[in-house]
Amino acid sequence: MPNIVIVGTQWGDEGKGKVVDVLSPHVDAVARFQGGNNAGHTLVVDGEQIVLHLLPSGALHPDCVCVVGNGVVVDPGVLLREIDQLEARGWSMGSGKLLISAHAHVIMPYHLSLDALRETAKGAKAIGTTRRGIGPAYEDKVGRRGIIVADLLSADRLRERLEAVLPDKNRMISEWYGADAIDLEETLATFAAFGERLAPYVGDGVSLLHRITSTGGSILFEGAQGAFLDVDHGTYPYVTSSNTVAGAACAGTGVGPTAIDEVVGICKAYTTRVGSGPFPTELEGELAEKLRRVGGEYGATTGRARRIGWFDAALLRQSARINGLTRIALTKLDVLSCLDEIPVCVGYEDEDLGFRGSFGAVRPIYETLPGWGSDITGCRTIDELPTNAQAYVARMSELIGVPIELVSVGPGREETILQGDLFRREPSP
Ligand code: GDP
Ligand code: IMO
Ligand code: MG
Repeated sequence: MPNIVIVGTQWGDEGKGKVVDVLSPHVDAVARFQGGNNAGHTLVVDGEQIVLHLLPSGALHPDCVCVVGNGVVVDPGVLLREIDQLEARGWSMGSGKLLISAHAHVIMPYHLSLDALRETAKGAKAIGTTRRGIGPAYEDKVGRRGIIVADLLSADRLRERLEAVLPDKNRMISEWYGADAIDLEETLATFAAFGERLAPYVGDGVSLLHRITSTGGSILFEGAQGAFLDVDHGTYPYVTSSNTVAGAACAGTGVGPTAIDEVVGICKAYTTRVGSGPFPTELEGELAEKLRRVGGEYGATTGRARRIGWFDAALLRQSARINGLTRIALTKLDVLSCLDEIPVCVGYEDEDLGFRGSFGAVRPIYETLPGWGSDITGCRTIDELPTNAQAYVARMSELIGVPIELVSVGPGREETILQGDLFRREPSP
């Protein structure tokens, strides 16, 4: 397969994990390039559900190397727990199977404290973060005071770094917010022990990925979150703290733009959002409740009920532009089987308004498509879908202007329809 970047096109939780898992047997490596354990990517294999927060979604395929790229922020305790949990369930995560970039930044206990304290202090204006310390960790990265994975490998080095940064953090935590300061010795002991356990996995992601591409292998770059949570292109300030668009795959792994062949956008057949911020096609009431129930729309990381809305073509067209989408994978089409009629937003009355910064003020224009009223989870080709479901897929593609080459009709690996040439290509030799 070519080198493909996979990104969320909406506000996250589009089904990226499932699609990456389906495509992983055809590539040599899957690399995460941004975000951290704010992500929750769900894989369903033989009816068993696995939620990954930091490990790339190629983890369940033995021949696929997993790379946690330099652009990711790593909570080492969470990562080690995830490795242990997979091993306990029979999936091997030996050191040849996983590489963690030495340059990835580490989420420290003060990042978790500050995330929670700031959110609580904001009250009703809170962003609704996952409280995993993501924002504070990226702030320190850009502020050139972060601790990187390589720093965990030497207790002396780690002490030096903690002595440099912890006093300021503790001043903020205890003097500004009146919370408990973080103990240096305890943090040092915990994180040096994490370093020892992580050491076999830590390495140079750039060399590994370049070795793969220069020997004819292929890589999947797995995005987290979604286009409208991007810190530059999303609904700021209700966004995450990294660039989530496809371009970030390069900086976040050390592979140049010329190595990327395709960008596949994962798009839910309707829309969801977790946390605060504008959502033009948001639905309230019984219908939202029904879709939430049928679609299981509860956060894979925090368990929060996801907000629900109709498909929004204006968002997707913008997503296609900012990501350079070449193909789309449409997910959760089966969830819409419970509706007689399906409204879709074809655009906004003033489409530029949203993307000029007044996203909360846009007025969506809807058209209503007929439902299909039957279970589609057993369909494995486009032709097996009811005519109205085929028409829904065709209309989505027409509205977005990008071909839909994968349709997901259930959470399981096998509940997938592939069409077009990209996903049919043979695995690289
Ligand atoms: P991600 O963050 O983009 O990987 O998505 P999440 O895993 O957070 O959320 C997607 C949810 O939908 C998970 O529970 C998946 O198991 C489930 N899912 C994925 N694709 C489908 C699908 O086509 N149909 C249904 N019904 N569920 C799906
Ligand atoms: P995946 O990869 C959905 C949202 C949070 C909040 C905002 C900022 O599973 O699609 P943060 O903790 O990042 O500072 O929170 O971003 N958010 C997500 N929403 N899916 C995700 O990841 C998300 N990661 C962060 O709910 O609104
Ligand atoms: Mg998710």
